[in-house]
Amino acid sequence: MAATSYGDPAQVVGPVDAAIPPPGPGQAVVDVRAAGVNPIDGKIVRGLFGTDPAALPRRIGSEVSGVVTAVGAGARYFAPAEADRREIHAGDEVIVYRAIGGYAEALLADADSVHPKPATLPFPTAAGLLLVGVTAADLVGAAKITGSDTVVVHGGAGAVGAIAVQLARRRGATVIATAAPRNHEFLAGLGAVPVAYGTGVAQRIHAAARRPVTAALDTAGTDEAIDASLDLGISPARIVSIAAFGRGTDGIVIVDGSTADSRRRRSAAIGGLIADATSGELTVEIAKTFPLEQAGQALAELAGPHSRGKFVLLP
Ligand SMILES: NC(=O)c1ccc[n+]([C@@H]2O[C@H](COP(=O)([O-])OP(=O)(O)OC[C@H]3O[C@@H](n4cnc5c(N)ncnc54)[C@H](OP(=O)(O)O)[C@@H]3O)[C@@H](O)[C@H]2O)c1
Repeated sequence: MAATSYGDPAQVVGPVDAAIPPPGPGQAVVDVRAAGVNPIDGKIVRGLFGTDPAALPRRIGSEVSGVVTAVGAGARYFAPAEADRREIHAGDEVIVYRAIGGYAEALLADADSVHPKPATLPFPTAAGLLLVGVTAADLVGAAKITGSDTVVVHGGAGAVGAIAVQLARRRGATVIATAAPRNHEFLAGLGAVPVAYGTGVAQRIHAAARRPVTAALDTAGTDEAIDASLDLGISPARIVSIAAFGRGTDGIVIVDGSTADSRRRRSAAIGGLIADATSGELTVEIAKTFPLEQAGQALAELAGPHSRGKFVLLP
């Protein structure tokens, strides 16, 4: 699947023919069993990152799970230490992140992006885990969350937010999380104190915290979330956002994988995320699955108010 022009994903995303070449050295061909759908995919299709006609048809999708069907010479799994890189074999169940053109029946992956998938981790969960997981780990790491913190997670029931809540709780922090009221019970189940976003959110966070709030992890990207964090007296250096790109001038920290520190935090988190999602220690909800051919519809739906959890495409 690919965007044949820039615009409404429901209109412009459709099937394209793409022959997969045999894998070269350090590459593997993966038969896709599930592909994670992320807001950035829809932003790319809408042209928010440029509308270069030469980039069309634009293949999308940056994470999948699947089964290896062919392996090039010397293809070894990603591992933080070179000595720990194991050989990839045909038949292995894997996660590919970052994938190129993940909305597909099969793809060619660089071994650096291939991770072993435990047999008991379902393909849809595996496909929806890593992009949001490493982003949440980056947020928590960049804010240096510890057990002494009282932290607010803006958008705590979102795909990134729900993992950030869990990682911050695991570090021992007290967590307040903003969400629509329908998601409050879920957040309480993750160990957070839920509050509604909207007018007066700073006061509600303050009342729920009953002590100074020391850090903010923002996944909403709204002025309201950043203004509330500043109004609560949180140091801008500990207000970390993945989406408030227009607010960097306030001295807050934006993380997006573009700096060496951000990339290091993200790579370091991968193994633990896979292990914890497999053991059930980390809750990763799948909201909805779509057939691959409904990728455009999935992207359009994800951009509006939608049910909690990840959207996943099934080829
Ligand atoms: N910088 C990066 O590296 C990076 C990586 C991944 C994602 N992102 C970006 O981060 C954002 C979130 O991604 P996601 O995958 O978590 O999306 P998601 O699953 O759609 O979650 C977004 C959440 O935002 C909440 N929300 C909506 N309006 C809000 C408001 N006014 N105040 C507070 N929360 C509000 C919603 O919660 P309710 O359902 O409770 O209303 C929703 O669950 C997207 O913009 C995405 O592009 C950035």
